[in-house]
Amino acid sequence: MNIEDFINNMTLDEKLDFIVGPGLPGQFGNDDVEVRGTVGIIRGVKGLPDIYLADGPAGLRIFPDRENNKYYATSFPIESMLASTWNRDILREVGEAMGEETKEYGVDVLLAPALNIQRNPLGGRNFEYYSEDPLVSGEMAASFVEGVQSKGVGTSIKHFVANNQETNRMKIDTIVSERALREIYLKSFEIALKAKPWTVMTAYNKVNGYYCSQSEYLIKKILREEWGFDGLVMSDWFAGDSGAHQVKAGNDLIMPGKSYQVLNYRIDEREEIKKGLNEGILTEEDIDEAIRNLLNLVIKTPKYNNYNYSNNPNLDEHAKTAYNAALEGIVLLKNNDVFPIKDKKVAVFGTAQIETIKGGLGSGDTHPKYVINIIDGFKEKNIDFDEKLYNIYKNKIEELRKEKYKPYHNDLGHTLYPRLPQNVIDNISYYADNNDLAIIVISRISGEFFDIDIKDFYLYDDEIKLIKEVSKEFRKRNKKVGILLNIGSPIEMATWEELVDGIMLIWQAGQETGRAVADIVKGNHSPSGKLALTIAKRFEDLPSLPFPVNGDEVIYDEGIYVGYRYFDTFKKEPLYEFGYGLSYTKFEYSNLDIKKDNEKLFISFNVKNIGGFPGKEISQIYIRAPKGKIDKPFQELKGFEKTKLLNPGEFQKINIKINIKDLSSYHEGWILEHGQYEIRVGASSRDIRLIEKIDL
Ligand code: GLC
Repeated sequence: MNIEDFINNMTLDEKLDFIVGPGLPGQFGNDDVEVRGTVGIIRGVKGLPDIYLADGPAGLRIFPDRENNKYYATSFPIESMLASTWNRDILREVGEAMGEETKEYGVDVLLAPALNIQRNPLGGRNFEYYSEDPLVSGEMAASFVEGVQSKGVGTSIKHFVANNQETNRMKIDTIVSERALREIYLKSFEIALKAKPWTVMTAYNKVNGYYCSQSEYLIKKILREEWGFDGLVMSDWFAGDSGAHQVKAGNDLIMPGKSYQVLNYRIDEREEIKKGLNEGILTEEDIDEAIRNLLNLVIKTPKYNNYNYSNNPNLDEHAKTAYNAALEGIVLLKNNDVFPIKDKKVAVFGTAQIETIKGGLGSGDTHPKYVINIIDGFKEKNIDFDEKLYNIYKNKIEELRKEKYKPYHNDLGHTLYPRLPQNVIDNISYYADNNDLAIIVISRISGEFFDIDIKDFYLYDDEIKLIKEVSKEFRKRNKKVGILLNIGSPIEMATWEELVDGIMLIWQAGQETGRAVADIVKGNHSPSGKLALTIAKRFEDLPSLPFPVNGDEVIYDEGIYVGYRYFDTFKKEPLYEFGYGLSYTKFEYSNLDIKKDNEKLFISFNVKNIGGFPGKEISQIYIRAPKGKIDKPFQELKGFEKTKLLNPGEFQKINIKINIKDLSSYHEGWILEHGQYEIRVGASSRDIRLIEKIDL
């Protein structure tokens, strides 16, 4: 296609139909679309095909029922669990699987990955984000994007930028320093760009006074001019307040368009742009620039290239990919001889053994063919569990679901299951007599549109009562108690962790949850996940308070001191630190060797499995900069690598390259201070195994 000729032959109305979507074709009850669940369309003008966009980060969010067939898409682990694998290969494999499903189900762009920073554990979309750290976020996103796009469909790195709370998200103004923007909130997107995502989705919120979708500074100056992004920029759905300012700022595509169709607070954006032309807000050249970016995207899509999609992706293969991702994302936080349970007989408490949460709600939701819940996984892997206890839970849930606890759709289309009561068991001592140990499952669900209620951050009275009674009865008989956390974002643990002997963070692992959890609990595999966030002892210890802010603006006064950057610099003790996770084996680090040229550091060291169980180790490189002109965090993660599966006695030489310029700080430009830098090789941010100093 000759892009310029094509543009020269377009009328203004055709250009505007291209820039502004037709509304919500496949959602909220509308069904005039080929692929049900499609959430946005780039209108085919002048003979071009309609281009389909669909969510999301945990799997292709399409509705299975179409042409009286069932087209299921795989439900993968949530992003906060994928990040806990710290394994770029896993993210790439998940990306390849989702990319294939996107292509084979007739969708052109997958609206993922989301890589906003998890600034506070109450963030409603934390399950959909990777980490508190920009390097982990950016690296996971880059590998995922490479995977998806290797299948010939597009991605959208979102939400650009600093969309870290759901409360008042469409309007709230995020007041944040240039340094914090550059080093934290923009940094994950800057890193992800190396994978050349086809599109970027601008965020709902404002940053320092301007809607992200209307910010020339963010889109034109930083994203395009400084970083050289030459793909398409689209708005989030119904974002901003002026189509004219969006196009002027370089936001090429306005989604979903026809706002009046769903939210009647705005006129059609096409009218807004026309008005903007007359008022001189923007010019026809601004519009043509958007058209150029749109055409460059369209000609890459399967739809434009007449790809005859099969509606038959390899779902069995992808289920294995989802299982492997879940297996490597599980994080063992505490283990006083509880796990693995091997052939012991276990009493499983908690309704989430059956009502296992597979993921979060909203655009990040998925509609899989099945979900293997925890107890199904135990059955399949021949874990011996107390049937009597299970049947009490099963009957109680059926009874509750019949009367009181019906799922309900809140006004935003969420299917919310109210929390089920936990104290459904009378005489726990009976189960303590008849089983070797206890496992209690605690679950939480969250979703788009809402931040997590502080009540959900703490255990409920019935959960505390259950843990206390189980702990009392089983410990009286010198038997252990383990906790499985089926959550998408950290909850409070410090007040009760002494009552239990083991805590396993199983996150929300998608359709294969039960299988992966059972394999780790039984001991068929060792856990190998680590935290990509900090678990604080107390909510009050967090630097991002008050959260969420229920007003017109939120001030990020903690600046760059987000997560471990705060806890390490200001000497706050977390309950479980960034980068932490236990294994069924032990690893030894040795032979640190550092070389450098004038651009890179070349760091190598050996990791050896010195325990009795095969396992994978995640090693991390933290850099501590010298005191200089500006304040710096105590240390910052600048590299990481996960080993292959190491058998007992086996070791692997790890080589990590770090660009020296990536050690600089932002202070009216990037500056790297002279002096002595400490290279800290750790099994976590606080379990540093090897240290060397170098002068830079
Ligand atoms: C939603 C989300 C965005 C999603 C889009 C389409 O509101 O913010 O992540 O891709 O709208 O569903």
